[in-house]
Amino acid sequence: MNTRTVQMTDFLTYIGVNDRETARFENLWPLDKGVAYNSYLMTGEKTCLMDTVKVNKVDVFLEKLDEALDGRELDYLVIHHMEPDHSSSIQNLLVEYPNVKLVGNKKTIEFLKDFYGITENILEVKDGDELDLGDRKLVFYTTPMLHWPESMVSFEVNSGVLFSQDAFGAFGTLDGAIFDDEINWDNHKDEMARYYTNIVGKHSRQVQVALKKLSGLDIKMICPVHGPVWRENPGRVVELYDRLSKYQSQNGVVIVYGSMYGNTEEMADILARELVENGVRNVQVFDVSKTHPSYLLNEIWKNKGVLLGSCSYHNGLYPNMLHLVNILEENKIQNHILGLFGSYSWSGGGVRGLQAFADGQKFQVLETIPQAKCSAKGEDIDGLRTLAKEMADALKENPADFESLLEV
Ligand code: FEO
Repeated sequence: MNTRTVQMTDFLTYIGVNDRETARFENLWPLDKGVAYNSYLMTGEKTCLMDTVKVNKVDVFLEKLDEALDGRELDYLVIHHMEPDHSSSIQNLLVEYPNVKLVGNKKTIEFLKDFYGITENILEVKDGDELDLGDRKLVFYTTPMLHWPESMVSFEVNSGVLFSQDAFGAFGTLDGAIFDDEINWDNHKDEMARYYTNIVGKHSRQVQVALKKLSGLDIKMICPVHGPVWRENPGRVVELYDRLSKYQSQNGVVIVYGSMYGNTEEMADILARELVENGVRNVQVFDVSKTHPSYLLNEIWKNKGVLLGSCSYHNGLYPNMLHLVNILEENKIQNHILGLFGSYSWSGGGVRGLQAFADGQKFQVLETIPQAKCSAKGEDIDGLRTLAKEMADALKENPADFESLLEV
C-alpha cells in the first residue's frame, strides 16, 4: 500500500504536501499551524495534474507524482492559479515531464511568461471551455480575483468534482486527515476563517459573483489547493464562504487598543466590564501591539461589534493601530457596529485618526467617543459607560446574524 499518496476515488489521487517550515503566508500572515499545498492527479484515459506546490516542497511533491503516475506519462497540467505557492514548481515539473501540456487562460499564460519565462506547449482555455480527457471531461470557469485575476476553477462533469484552487481553502496542515469526514472541524474552522479573512476577504464581492456562477453545478466533491477536501458535506464550506463574503457576523464585541503605558488599555478594560454589565456576551480585548493583525482582522470580521482605541503618537494614531486600520480599510468591512475611544497627553491625534478612518468606511459608528487626557477620570469614565451602553443597545436593535458564525 502506498502511504505517501491518498487514493481519493477510482480516478483521483491526492499528492499534496504539508508546509510546516514557512513562517508566514505571503511573508505576512502567520502560519502557526502550517499550510497544505494540495495537488491532485487524475488518471483516466489521460493523466492530468491539478496544480503544483510551493517550490520548497518540490522534491517530495515530484516523488509523490512519480508514484501516482506509476510509470505513465503526464499528459496535462491544469494551472488554476499562478500565485507561486502553487506555481513555483512548474519549472521543476517541466524538467521531469518536458512533454506535459500546460492548460491555462490568457492571463495564466501571461503570468507563466512573466514569472518563469515559459511560453511553449500551452493550451489556452476560456470561460466555459471544455477539455476532453476521454473518460473525463473538465469544464473551466473563470473566477477573477478569487484570488488573483487569472484564477479559475474546473469541474469534472462525470464525477461532480470541483477543483476550486484557493476558493474554499484554509490555513493549517492536513495531519493525516484529508477529507472533511476525517477531520475534527473544530480544529480547522478558525484557520479556514482566518485564511478567508486574511487572503480572500478583500475580494468578497467577487466571491459572491463566483458563488452565483457555480451555484448551478451539481458538486459532489470540492478539492481546494489548501485545507481539507469536501466530500461528505461540500455545502458546509460553501455556506461558510457565503456568510463570510456577505460580512455576516456573530454575536460578540472585539475591543482592540493601542496603549504605551496602560492608560488606553485601562479604558478598554472599563469598556469590557461595562459591556458585560449591559448584557453583552463574548467580549474579547486585544493589545494591537501584541496580537498580529491577522488574528485581529479575523476576530473583527466575525464579530458584530468593534471598539477601537488609540493613544496619540506623533500627533496621530499609534503606529500599530494605524497598520490595523489600513488593513481594515482594504477589506471594506460592512454590517458591523464601530465605537471609538482613546487618549492623548498634549496635542492629541489618536482619536482624530480613528475618526478619519471611520469616516471613509461602512461601519455603523456609535456617537459617543470618549477621549481622556493622560488617564481616564470622572467624565471620561462616564463617556466609556455611555459608549458601552450605546454598543449594547445597537446590538439589540441591529443584531448579529448568528450566535456563532462558524457553526455551519
Ligand atoms: Fe494559495 Fe492565492 O494562492
